[in-house]
Amino acid sequence: MRFQGPFGIRNRTGDEMKEGHLPVLAEEVLTLLAPASGSLQIDTTLGGGGHTERILGATDPDGRLLGLDADGAAIARVRDRLAARFGDRLVLRQANFRELASVAPAAGFPAVDGMLFDLGLSSFQLADTGRGFGIRAGGPLDMRFDPNVGVPASELLATLDARELAALFRRYGEEPQAGRIARAIVEARRTAPVETSEDLAELVERIASGAPGRRRIHPATRVFQALRIAVNAELDALAIGLASAVDLLRPGGRLVVLSYHSLEDRIVKRFLDAERKGCICPPSVPVCVCGRTPRLRLLTRSLTAGPAELAANPRARSARLRAAERIAA
Ligand SMILES: C[S@@+](CC[C@H](N)C(=O)[O-])C[C@H]1O[C@@H](n2cnc3c(N)ncnc32)[C@H](O)[C@@H]1O
Repeated sequence: MRFQGPFGIRNRTGDEMKEGHLPVLAEEVLTLLAPASGSLQIDTTLGGGGHTERILGATDPDGRLLGLDADGAAIARVRDRLAARFGDRLVLRQANFRELASVAPAAGFPAVDGMLFDLGLSSFQLADTGRGFGIRAGGPLDMRFDPNVGVPASELLATLDARELAALFRRYGEEPQAGRIARAIVEARRTAPVETSEDLAELVERIASGAPGRRRIHPATRVFQALRIAVNAELDALAIGLASAVDLLRPGGRLVVLSYHSLEDRIVKRFLDAERKGCICPPSVPVCVCGRTPRLRLLTRSLTAGPAELAANPRARSARLRAAERIAA
């Protein structure tokens, strides 16, 4: 499948031009979701509402969309920007997508035609100096999408022992220096807590090896990713959210997922594969005993951003899009 034109450049809205979040692979998302007039859609990760705005536009004049975000600030931002324009066609709920199975029917979306997951965090969160998501933004190390749920990242850094920290950095960051970094954190906190994004970035930078001039990413990138994933239990939420999404899709309904690192993409890929095949019995079992039948048809091989989008939006660099259609099961 070929996609024409740098959608992100030609069709940026006023807010996006200022300093907001540019929706990634926006043209591809629309093509694959194929949202039609009168359809029901769910954007499980509103962020700045860039995808939502385009999906609602494509469902004119009467399509409706349920927008979720775990972060109340995202809900407020999108309400301010889009509520007046779309009226009751846009329904907003602050919720984690792990709760899709209950939240969607309760909001009037018991069966839908399209479902988008645009994983990870938004440019707004990354730039927010009060949240600790951004290595360069600085600020207290919180990292919770919903600051009322779970514990801040600084608490994990203060309470886990070196072995637990190393396991976390290895598991969720695939960090090759996990052990050294974990030991350095435990050593450093004997003198002063590691509480801010600057504290952590400097600490990792000090002990990470490699010539700084040749690094493509900041040496603390994997450690930040690992902490964020752990704080928000992101991988569990993804597995649960995807399963609920397929339950909610009508036959012919479309699922589009954008992931930003290999841990997420692996979960998405395996999930889609399993739903495409249906039966999950091991090859040694001669007759199916699981009773599962295929529920999805893949719409495309995984897609990545083209050069024009990459030039306009560095966040698109690591994005990988997968899409599937619900078949009658
Ligand atoms: C990459 S941004 C979405 C950007 C959006 N598509 C746009 O065009 O502006 C991801 C958003 O998903 C939210 N998020 C991440 N995990 C979530 C989860 N499990 N449940 C609900 N929201 C989640 C984050 O708070 C963030 O606002």
